[in-house]
Amino acid sequence: MTEPSAPFTPEQEAALRKWTQYYPYKQMGLVEALRCVQDWHRHIKPEAAAYVAQLFGLPFNHVWGVVTFFPTFTTKPTGKNRIGLCRGLSCWLAGSPQMAKRLESTLGVAEKEVTEDGRFSWEEMECLGACEQGPALLVNDRLQGQATDEKIAALAKELK
Ligand code: FES
Repeated sequence: MTEPSAPFTPEQEAALRKWTQYYPYKQMGLVEALRCVQDWHRHIKPEAAAYVAQLFGLPFNHVWGVVTFFPTFTTKPTGKNRIGLCRGLSCWLAGSPQMAKRLESTLGVAEKEVTEDGRFSWEEMECLGACEQGPALLVNDRLQGQATDEKIAALAKELK
C-alpha cells in the first residue's frame, strides 16, 4: 500500500502532530485535528482523512466514520462563511422552512452549495441548543439568535 501524500503545509502538519501528543491517548485529539483540517480546507477530503489516520495510527475507516458522523465536518467545500439554520422541531414551528427559502433567495444558492464568489454556503442543522430563539441561526460556529429577513439580509451584505 502506498503512503498517502501530505495534503498539508509543514506548519499545518506540525499543528496536527501536536494533537496526537496533547492527550494521554492519541485518539483523544482526533476531533480537534479534524476541526483544524475543516477550518483550513473548508471540507475534509478522503486524502486528508487518510493522512490524519496515518498520523494518529488509526484505520482510515475510523477517521472517515468520525468525519461523516459529525455535522461540523463536511466532505464538500463550504463557503468562507458557513451559515447554519436549525431545522429542529421548535425552530421548524417557529418558521425555519420560510427562513430556508429566504437564505436560498438572498444568497442565490441552494442548501450546501457555495456562492460563486465563495463567500457563503448555508445548510440546515439539527437542534443548535437555542430552541427559545427559533428559528436559530449559526454563523461560522457562532449562534446569532433568531433568523429574520433583516438579519439574513444584513449578513449577506456585511460578511466578507
Ligand atoms: S430546535 Fe432549533 S435550536 Fe433547538
